[in-house]
Amino acid sequence: MSNTTGMANLNLTGDDGTVPTEDEVNPWEVHASSATGVDYDKLIKRFGSSPIDSALLSKFETALGQPPHFLLRRGIVFSHRDMDQILALHSQGKPFFLYTGRGPSSEAMHMGHVIPFLFTKWLQEAFNVPLVIQMTDDEKFLWKDISLETARSYTTENAKHNRPRLRPERTFIFSDLDYIGSSPEFYRNMCRVQKAVTFNQAKGIFGFTESDCIGKISFPAIQAAPSFSSSFPQIFNSRSDIPCLIPCAIDQDPYFRMTRDVAPRIGCPKPALLHSTFFPALQGCQTKMSASDANSSVFLTDTPKAVKDKINKYAFSGGGATVEEHKKNGGNCDIDVSYQYLRFFLDDDQRLEKIRQDYSSGELLTGYLKKELIELLQAFLKSHQEKRKAVTNEVVKQFMTPRKLKFDY
Ligand code: TRP
Repeated sequence: MSNTTGMANLNLTGDDGTVPTEDEVNPWEVHASSATGVDYDKLIKRFGSSPIDSALLSKFETALGQPPHFLLRRGIVFSHRDMDQILALHSQGKPFFLYTGRGPSSEAMHMGHVIPFLFTKWLQEAFNVPLVIQMTDDEKFLWKDISLETARSYTTENAKHNRPRLRPERTFIFSDLDYIGSSPEFYRNMCRVQKAVTFNQAKGIFGFTESDCIGKISFPAIQAAPSFSSSFPQIFNSRSDIPCLIPCAIDQDPYFRMTRDVAPRIGCPKPALLHSTFFPALQGCQTKMSASDANSSVFLTDTPKAVKDKINKYAFSGGGATVEEHKKNGGNCDIDVSYQYLRFFLDDDQRLEKIRQDYSSGELLTGYLKKELIELLQAFLKSHQEKRKAVTNEVVKQFMTPRKLKFDY
């Protein structure tokens, strides 16, 4: 089962149909063992990352002179590795860069896919740093039943949806299929990583088996390479010592645990990480989300009417079964998908908190929450679709041309 940044497939049962006792979270599969979804506190302990606590949030505020993004404040970006070091570097006026990516698995993109890019854009502007975006069309070719040509065409279509948010003078978007063949330095870093990880280690980290094709087994070296500034000599003036910060969904952590382990052995700084939780499907945290199921999410191409119909019809409600019951017992925001979506998209903290209180007390009905969400998403998509229309292949080419960005090193 393939999955993408910011959103994973959530299942209650394992591949063999049994109910797992522990959450399963890896780049290809996310199984929640409980109906309330993944237990993120447990994941932090198991993965050995650090929680984003109030002390780190204050360091953010001090370093930036502005409050951290609401996704950080609300615990949607909930875990990190070495973020304090990045903040310290920034305070000393030292450079770092951002790296994120997307596996273009189809032309369709939904709301879950834009979250990481909204957040990354905020980081990029707040810190004023370069951003590289890896489009892993090779990964999708290896894991899915699609041709190289199809995978490459998804890269272009997906990149068009990113463009409205990003500035070309600070951003390099690249297709693995195009860039790796033309970049000796990128390939050298891949080779260094490939030599530093054994098949046994890769099996341990990623669960590969003897029957996986060898392309999959060496793919982690490709996702690791952009963590090193020397993979982009045109941007970093051939320096190999510029540290990297990777915002990603927590399911991508295995790639970067491996990268961090290898980095010192190949003479590069370890990348720092910011981890986000998963974006729920309309049907609730415990159901499976799929880009091929039009009803499991709101898509970036949906019409205002489709948004309204989908949310009214499918968004799982945490409200009471009857109005009477709801008024008596109140609604449950933890499982109410409309409320959960508002947490991801409504930037007004006070408004959100008021909605939470009034829904929990039973004063507000589910219909109100849905109406609020529908209006918010319709406005978001209207603006997105207008900007997206203006993005031609030419514009995408501009972002994807290897070049120096506006930063000097
Ligand atoms: N493997 C990711 C996916 O399937 C894509 C990806 C590549 C990525 N590099 C990344 C995601 C860095 C986050 C950060 O979507």
